[in-house]
Amino acid sequence: MIERVRAGVLEQNTVDLLRQIGISERLDRMGLRHDGIYIRFNGERHRIDMAELTGRAITVYGQNEVVKDLIAARGATGRPLMFEVEHAVIRDFDSSAPAIRFRSHGEEHEIACDFIAGCDGFHGICRPSVTKNAIQIYDRQYPFGWLGILAEAPPTSHELVYSYHDRGFALYSMRSPKITRLYLQCEPDEDINHWPDDRIWEELQTRLHSHDGWAPKEGPILQKSVTGMRSFVAEPMRFGRLFLAGDAAHIVPPTGAKGLNLAVADVWVLAQGIAEFYKSSSETLLNRYSEICLRRVWRAQRFSWWMTSMLHRFNGECDFDRQRQLAELEYLTSSPAAMTSLAENYVGFPLAL
Ligand code: PHB
Repeated sequence: MIERVRAGVLEQNTVDLLRQIGISERLDRMGLRHDGIYIRFNGERHRIDMAELTGRAITVYGQNEVVKDLIAARGATGRPLMFEVEHAVIRDFDSSAPAIRFRSHGEEHEIACDFIAGCDGFHGICRPSVTKNAIQIYDRQYPFGWLGILAEAPPTSHELVYSYHDRGFALYSMRSPKITRLYLQCEPDEDINHWPDDRIWEELQTRLHSHDGWAPKEGPILQKSVTGMRSFVAEPMRFGRLFLAGDAAHIVPPTGAKGLNLAVADVWVLAQGIAEFYKSSSETLLNRYSEICLRRVWRAQRFSWWMTSMLHRFNGECDFDRQRQLAELEYLTSSPAAMTSLAENYVGFPLAL
């Protein structure tokens, strides 16, 4: 599971928080700080200097690496951490004594809880455990997907390149000084078997190369996969003593690089609420969990939807739509106000209660 290819952009908040809780040793050593990003269209790359515009930056560090660091930190406490348990169910979360039941190595277990953090992802058991009519779902699926590859090729750009191209969106990213991460807009149900390595590189070169001579460097492809794109929110995020967090409550399309950062922000809010509860028996903050998280979630939804709509080609779009997208890109990359708007959303708004 840990080797699955996941997102890789950490907001300033996420980096600051990992430092604050003392698990940033590898992140500080291996994370790549980026002060800006490039937006490419009509063959030109335009840089948006996020650090200059906002005083904040992003760090490229794989989600898998964050998970490794979290697992190691938990391991170091000597407290239990169990993987691949079976038949997990949660119960009584509308009471003050909820419980988690599951089977592990053939044995039944039950954990008596004060609170349950439902951080079990989009396909987890927590959200479906809530009565349907207590949840409002907002869902949008996009008519395309991303074909992503991990390649053994040194990055030729220090910063990410988001490209709008007649043949569809492409994204240039990286994981280390030796590994590039690239994506291509494709059909949502694209068959990866129709994409031999040569075809992938040809398409990436077409969509990314720039008039100034910049192009990705090619190398052996280590992994490839197709991901669908959706925007999803479940409201509220709290049901009695159950608190949904991260993908269990919301999904964003990857274009804004917000998914992992939103999950971290949810957990931060929850941790503050739980700390307050044990310090003063007050549930004031816990009562505001949903409201505080959803404000950030909807901002990130808006931003991710906007980035996605601006940069992808849509089936059935007309010439007007294409010109409008190009006008938006031209405006974005030439107006300091527009660049600042992108930058402050991309680097992430400070964590606040
Ligand atoms: C990635 O490096 O995997 C990545 C970067 C930026 C995105 C999405 C994914 O918007």
